[in-house]
Amino acid sequence: MPKPHGGKLVNRLVKKDVSDIKELPKIEINTNLAEDITNIAKGVFSPLEGFLCNNDLENIVKEKRLMDDTPWTIPILLDFNNEEIKEGETILLSNKENGVLALVDIDEIYTYDKKTLAQEIYRTKDTNHPGVANINNMKQNLLGGKITLLDCKTREFDEYNLSPKETRFLFKEKGWKEIVAFQTRNPPHIGHEYVQKTALTFVDGVFINPIIGKKKTGDFRDEVILASYETLMKHYYLKERAVMSILRTSMKYAGPREAIHHAIMRKNFGCTHFIVGRDHAGVGNYYGPYDAHDIFSEFPDLGIIPVFFRSFSRCTKCNSVVNDKICPHDQKYHINFSGKKIREILNNGEIPSEDMMRKEVAETILKFDKPFIE
Ligand code: ADX
Repeated sequence: MPKPHGGKLVNRLVKKDVSDIKELPKIEINTNLAEDITNIAKGVFSPLEGFLCNNDLENIVKEKRLMDDTPWTIPILLDFNNEEIKEGETILLSNKENGVLALVDIDEIYTYDKKTLAQEIYRTKDTNHPGVANINNMKQNLLGGKITLLDCKTREFDEYNLSPKETRFLFKEKGWKEIVAFQTRNPPHIGHEYVQKTALTFVDGVFINPIIGKKKTGDFRDEVILASYETLMKHYYLKERAVMSILRTSMKYAGPREAIHHAIMRKNFGCTHFIVGRDHAGVGNYYGPYDAHDIFSEFPDLGIIPVFFRSFSRCTKCNSVVNDKICPHDQKYHINFSGKKIREILNNGEIPSEDMMRKEVAETILKFDKPFIE
């Protein structure tokens, strides 16, 4: 099992009586930030122990690394607009909805340039990009400093919400030495199943790790993703070879940079390999289909092995799932596993062809009145 990123698994969770700290200055935070805090506290973002200070942020933007040279590509930032808060203070962060309560020891308060941040992280300033739109909605002040998570309440799907400590324990229990992680934000089509099973052929187990959290309009709802994977795993996976657990964080749609971030989180969960397919974490046409493969060459020291896949489709001539490395036939014989097309068919209440999606999976999705985020 690989060591956690940066060497040790961060644990900044301290359950304690909070009655004596109620007097501290307080910031009310949104769900995304509450999830960042939980991920820092439980080691999903190891080696981060808190929100970034300016020098780390600048280094991530320019070099895709923390100041100590550890690979890191997506900034984890705490924005705020409370004028009274000062460096050196300890403040309370709270989010009523998720019952998150945390302390942050403020090392630094600083500002940033939104356009540079958008351009470097997302490779565009276009506000139609959901990540750029998020940056534009951020407040102008940032604060950096270590967090301590004091409390967080149990939430929906928490039976699937394993921490890195728990997944590492589970993989060991199962006797898995090599584990391939699969990132997703969608119910599985045949292409998804194929990349997972092809990779699984070479390792001991697959860790299916859907992102549960803020996504964009038109994406599938969290409960639909989980239910569809439950169905797929029940009918088509060996119990002893596959584990599903959720990852609570927002999708950034940052393509290549996010692929590295996704890989780092899965390394922290104890995985040795990470699947990167076509247009990983992409949106629209902002990234080339294999940009998320190319970026890994900048990180020989990442500590998790990327497993690259060219785009799979179904070839009616081969009568099997193929990609451009293995099939000699013309495109006209290929049926693409287009997420957009599958969504359109499901939206009309119809079952997509079994060439694209398992019937049982489609039926599970259609049981939901509203499978998509509106
Ligand atoms: S993502 O935003 O999480 O990347 P999605 O859930 O669709 O979106 O994809 C999960 C993983 O499967 C990604 O690594 C993606 O590149 C890969 N993938 C999706 N479709 C295909 C396909 N047809 N061929 C190869 N890889 C694919």
